[in-house]
Amino acid sequence: MASPSPSRRVCVTGGGGYIASWLVKLLLARGYAVHATVRDPGEKKIAHLKRLENAPENLKLFKADLLDYDAMAAAIVGCQGVFHVATPVPSGKITDPQREMLGPAVNGTTNVLKAASAANVRRVVVVSSMVAVEIDPKDWPKDKIKDEDCWSDKEACRNNEDWYSVAKISSEWAALEYGKQTGLDVVTVNPALVFGPLLQPTLNTSCQFLVYFLKGGPDQMRNKLWHIVDVRDTADALLLVYEAPEASGRHICAPHFTSARDLLDLLKSMYTEHPFMSNICDMDHPAPMTSDKLKKLGWKVRPLKETIADTIEFCKHAGFLDDAAGKTCRFPDVYNKI
Ligand SMILES: NC(=O)c1ccc[n+]([C@@H]2O[C@H](COP(=O)([O-])OP(=O)(O)OC[C@H]3O[C@@H](n4cnc5c(N)ncnc54)[C@H](OP(=O)(O)O)[C@@H]3O)[C@@H](O)[C@H]2O)c1
Repeated sequence: MASPSPSRRVCVTGGGGYIASWLVKLLLARGYAVHATVRDPGEKKIAHLKRLENAPENLKLFKADLLDYDAMAAAIVGCQGVFHVATPVPSGKITDPQREMLGPAVNGTTNVLKAASAANVRRVVVVSSMVAVEIDPKDWPKDKIKDEDCWSDKEACRNNEDWYSVAKISSEWAALEYGKQTGLDVVTVNPALVFGPLLQPTLNTSCQFLVYFLKGGPDQMRNKLWHIVDVRDTADALLLVYEAPEASGRHICAPHFTSARDLLDLLKSMYTEHPFMSNICDMDHPAPMTSDKLKKLGWKVRPLKETIADTIEFCKHAGFLDDAAGKTCRFPDVYNKI
């Protein structure tokens, strides 16, 4: 295959993560040359990247922590586009919010944007989250469908010690402001809870959510209205907003929604041989979010049942549904905060 022209060279931050791995795979398949940042290029958990189609010729790994501007800049120089995907997604309790979440998320995003400006990047796609849209938005009627004008209430999240959401709201806001002030073309994507098969060998936090439904454990969850998107559809959305000249601002990426109880019923109808979780407490459901803006750009998604089936099938074969001796399955703390 001929080398991609310089205009098809892009950087993906946190290239070995769940969503980023699918994005790197998609970019390589579409003929892009990819600079992927990883924290440890020698680690087993990123070996899957080197096996992707076209990786030997078109994938270059850069060792970089988000807090290290020079290392990030070295990965971004020469690229026409940046996909800023890396952010910690902790499954356990956060004890030092600044070090574990806010520093890497907010200062890390600023580092990436400054490096993108210095390298004259054409467009930066920042991966934000549904948590920057739907949590206790101020002045938003409860029964009004949430669109890209809707912002979560950062102070309410801070008061709830929901540090992941504080970090995602702050970093998305800072990214869009940076774009307005400097003229850098910054667009954001707000994925829902992401399920789907994994490319990497370790189970990420959002798939632990689904595994908990099947394996069960002592933890309670709320009967929240959960928005869900497939990881492969998320990668498509990220590339779409990068390539579509008319894309601008925020893009909600949350095509499906279901309450926790309805999700449990769906899983029980699809699988019978599991213990299942049962500890769900009631809560009200405000109006859902809409992904119409992305759909108007031409985004197509898989049915929810296909996503669930592919995730569970993958987790079964990978052994993620087996019980580790003496280890209780836990519901990731972050999902009882958001
Ligand atoms: N999964 C979801 O349901 C979901 C939903 C909405 C939004 N998102 C957003 O999507 C993005 C990716 O999430 P994911 O689910 O793919 O999670 P993931 O698999 O845990 O990936 C997170 C990535 O960020 C990297 N990272 C964390 N701290 C870093 C630091 N200080 N410096 C450099 N890299 C760092 C990790 O590197 P290491 O491998 O070295 O730790 C990893 O590659 C995040 O921005 C997340 O907020 C995810």
